[in-house]
Amino acid sequence: MSSPAFGTVSRAFVPEALGQPLRLRGWVQRARSSGGILFVVLRDRTGSVQVTARRDAIGPEAFEAAEHVQTEGAIEVEGTVAEDRRAPGGRELRASSIRVVHAGEAFPIFAEQTEEFLLDKRHLAIRSPEHVATFRLKAEALRALREFLDREEVLEMTPPVLSGNAAEGGAEAFTIDYFGRPGYLSQTAQLYLEALLFPNERVYALTPSFRAEKSRTPRHLTEYLHLEVELAWCDLSGLLDFEERMIVAVTHALAERRPAELRALGRPPEELASLRAPFPRIRYAEAIDRLAAQGFPVRWGSDLGTAEERALTIEERVPLFVTQFPRELKAFYMLRSPEDPRTVEAADLLAPEGYGEMVGGSCRETDLLRLTERLQETGANVTEYDWYLDLRRHGSVPHAGFGLGIERLLRWVLRREHIRETTPFPRTPSRHTP
Ligand code: 4AD
Ligand code: MG
Repeated sequence: MSSPAFGTVSRAFVPEALGQPLRLRGWVQRARSSGGILFVVLRDRTGSVQVTARRDAIGPEAFEAAEHVQTEGAIEVEGTVAEDRRAPGGRELRASSIRVVHAGEAFPIFAEQTEEFLLDKRHLAIRSPEHVATFRLKAEALRALREFLDREEVLEMTPPVLSGNAAEGGAEAFTIDYFGRPGYLSQTAQLYLEALLFPNERVYALTPSFRAEKSRTPRHLTEYLHLEVELAWCDLSGLLDFEERMIVAVTHALAERRPAELRALGRPPEELASLRAPFPRIRYAEAIDRLAAQGFPVRWGSDLGTAEERALTIEERVPLFVTQFPRELKAFYMLRSPEDPRTVEAADLLAPEGYGEMVGGSCRETDLLRLTERLQETGANVTEYDWYLDLRRHGSVPHAGFGLGIERLLRWVLRREHIRETTPFPRTPSRHTP
């Protein structure tokens, strides 16, 4: 008789499975043997289940082979689903046969290892339950964001990440040798999205962005995943409404679809499910006043760094918008504010609980002359931007957009201490391997 098809671990826990045969394959989370019985916790993509194998049930040869399987070795098991009060989930698989797929070597990851060692062995460390939960939540967040953008009729675009322009200011761009000419790794897809806006009106891109900042902080990566949206006929308040709807949509989706993973990481899903728009909005000037009242040595023109953003939101449970920044603090393409020419129509969205900026957005300057002036003021090589200036020569219309740092969002939502825990192979100033 041929073997039944492989099932999944989750199948062992459905009510009808009790007493039924089940065939599984997966990896050994842990194993021990005592008195002619082998206890294995077997993991597959759907979960883990205890397998018990008696020497007399599977035969002495198979038993010995199975006893030699290491943590993270791979096996196939056939058996019967049985009740066992002591087993996690109250069920186990009683094996009638075990086949070793790969016994493996001693697994180098175990408790009490240094952060550095775990980063060196990241390719293996990512099998831990925390990492598995994190990257499932990340996948779910990306899915929820795409679903939201789809509902809002925003079209996905695929801009390049290699470019001859360094859009957010040359100092922080990674420079590459592009066949003898300078090239840059993209810091933002914005300029390309602005070009793509005109025939499509609402566009987005989900691409890696690169920042050559030597900032060793718990919120900076040198490569991160950047969700950028660009909307025609949109003003600042419309942009903030959109951002709010998006953040609420993604947090609610995570709470609904992945509550167990959230709990495992220390974020009660109820906290995300209760998030509501609108989020409070304050002007930069008010933020400065609040900070000064708390004793920060800030005045008009001071940048809001990690400590300042933390102080503004540490007691908050809801994200906070800070708007109308002095234009010297912000990029050349931001629209001069009609109410105060010292400021731009920009907004940063700060995550609550002190996690800091997760979205940066603005209305875009539509006027060719002002845009050219601002480029010159920032010391950019204007001819490099001639293609971008063309966009202000042909049907230039009001528009606005933003960039969301996916790992910044997740750091807050998943309550991670360091941003590197939200990405499988973190890129930081001190590390670009494995
Ligand atoms: O505020 P930034 O620099 O804005 C832009 O790049 C705009 N051109 C985006 C746009 O309007 N299309 O970056 C946007 C977001 C930040 O709010 C932050 O969440 C994230 O990108 N970010 C980083 N995330 C991780 N590591 C870094 N080093 C980051 N730098 C920015
Ligand atoms: Mg920013």
